[in-house]
Amino acid sequence: MELPDSTFTPRRTDDIVRVLAVTTSLGGRTILDGVDLAIRRGEVFVIMGPSGCGKTTLLRHLCGLLAPSFGSVTVEGHDIHAASPELLHLLRLRTGLSFQGGALLGSMTVLENVELPLRENTELPARVIRETARMKLDMVGLLHAADLLPSSLSGGMKKRAAIARAIALDPEIVYFDEPSAGLDPVTAAEVDNLIQKLNQVFGITMVVVTHDLQSAHAIADRVAVLHEGRVLRCGTRDQIWADPDPRIRAFIERRLPVEEVDGMDILRFLEI
Ligand SMILES: Nc1ncnc2c1ncn2[C@@H]1O[C@H](COP(=O)(O)OP(=O)(O)OP(=O)(O)O)[C@@H](O)[C@H]1O
Ligand SMILES: [Mg+2]
Repeated sequence: MELPDSTFTPRRTDDIVRVLAVTTSLGGRTILDGVDLAIRRGEVFVIMGPSGCGKTTLLRHLCGLLAPSFGSVTVEGHDIHAASPELLHLLRLRTGLSFQGGALLGSMTVLENVELPLRENTELPARVIRETARMKLDMVGLLHAADLLPSSLSGGMKKRAAIARAIALDPEIVYFDEPSAGLDPVTAAEVDNLIQKLNQVFGITMVVVTHDLQSAHAIADRVAVLHEGRVLRCGTRDQIWADPDPRIRAFIERRLPVEEVDGMDILRFLEI
């Protein structure tokens, strides 16, 4: 497909994204405090951590939506927060986003929603845009719903349509924020399968923020666990699942860390 990034030269490295000493202050509070990470080309990289620890904020830094207070994010060898608006635009074209709030436009059909990024960012003829969007819907198993409005889709179908839109421009990397939130376990597993398929068949690097341990275990090649604004641990899925650190054990086993239980008013804990 002829995209306007023919002048863009990715600096090919094994790491598609590098995060160095990223620190974020929002509303006078330090949210991230020196985050270092490297995401490898072609992997499924899962970011986990307690609610409010800064996962969404980190994703916003990774895709160039929010500049950190300190530190750098390098994508395909380019510092995205020091990039010119033109370079940032080209980098964004190579990036797909599937954020929780990133709803489909209700007044357009599913097919038109998937066509939108192609219409806005390419000069392709309408017929080619239509065929490309149909191909993306086919890739997510939703071609039969092309002409429906989003309001008549189930939660899982909406999520798949949003993924089709996220891959419309053939991105190198796709960021997902809580892809299985609000879905029943079977539908969540279908979305997991789709993320894996797009990764394995098309080689798209996937960065997934999730609370869902089952989902993380199913899809992750590597996992980073955030804790109090830092990366507590980053490793392969099996390394993280076997990690003896009590904070990681507590998270994986879905229980309160021992010190929090000890320090808590037991009556409040029991909701008496
Ligand atoms: N624009 C903002 N201004 C002030 N504080 C913010 C802003 N955005 C986020 N925060 C705060 O930063 C912290 C981290 O938020 P973030 O949304 O990144 O957490 P999270 O790990 O994604 O949480 P969750 O798992 O609940 O989605 C929270 O305490 C949040 O209140
Ligand atoms: Mg979040």
